[in-house]
Amino acid sequence: HDDEYKKDDQSDSDMLLTLSKEKGWITEYLYQYKSFWFTPSAIKGIKRAQQCFKAQPTDILLVTFPKSGTTWFKALIFSLMNRDRFDLASHHLLTNGPHDCIPFLEAIIQDETSYQDYRISCLPCCLLATHVPYSLLPTSVMSSGCKIVYVFRETKDVLVSNWHYMKKIRLKELPSFPIEDAHDLFRKGISHFGPFWDHVSGYWKVCLENPDKVLFLTYEDMKKDPIVCLTKLAKFLDKPFRLEEEREEVVHEIVRLCSFENLSSLDVNQTGVQYFSPQFAVENRHFLRKGQVGDWRNHLTVEMA
Ligand code: A3P
Repeated sequence: HDDEYKKDDQSDSDMLLTLSKEKGWITEYLYQYKSFWFTPSAIKGIKRAQQCFKAQPTDILLVTFPKSGTTWFKALIFSLMNRDRFDLASHHLLTNGPHDCIPFLEAIIQDETSYQDYRISCLPCCLLATHVPYSLLPTSVMSSGCKIVYVFRETKDVLVSNWHYMKKIRLKELPSFPIEDAHDLFRKGISHFGPFWDHVSGYWKVCLENPDKVLFLTYEDMKKDPIVCLTKLAKFLDKPFRLEEEREEVVHEIVRLCSFENLSSLDVNQTGVQYFSPQFAVENRHFLRKGQVGDWRNHLTVEMA
């Protein structure tokens, strides 16, 4: 096994030498692979997912461009799909970060044992998340007919949220990273999993062609009317709220549980750490910054906007 991994590592490093590279947001460089920009470990995860991931028709895949509300939607989808398993007083989300509840496909697939254990633990319906662009998804995702939920967030808020987050986790030895630099890279399409517009339009097209398999939601709509949005999401995922659940206002309870105010007040999200791999850990508090619509107005000039 080790030999296989060493061989893979060697061919990955050889391949990196052939790719275009540009200034990175958290590490020195981002690399252009098949028209999108990634870190080396993301490229590795994508290739591994393409080789090994066999989607099942019952799988649910949450797809986002980074900083579009992944953490929030992980919490919402997890609570929605597991609402018969947990009651609110002892809910899993009270002691586990949202990223612990639904892993990223491109991260978990890199460790065969964790991936298989996770798949078994969430039978009959496996919840996964990904930032991978549509054109690079494993082919089994579309051929299996599994459901995809894509979350779109307003472009300028995505840029500003990325900038705040990346500044916090950026390697300390790199030079400072003013918003002007982030803006310049972002508008050229150079950011993690960017270009942003190609990411969005890839999923938008496939949603138009397969509306029963791909649902497009927006961060802003979920903010404005979470009850309507969550009810729509539940129907799409074939888990509509039952009559007695409507009477008991279960949808309101899920919205409250997953609200920015509630999640950011929990100890696990204030002091916990999320390990995406043995080499990459992020403090949970960095995933819950402000949670508002239109914060870009506080950071971008009119010209930048
Ligand atoms: P801001 O930086 O604008 O505050 P992701 O989860 O894709 O990494 O996105 C992070 C963004 O979603 C951050 O935006 C974060 O504050 C916001 N967010 C996280 N949890 C949220 C929640 N429960 N409700 C609303 N926004 C949330």
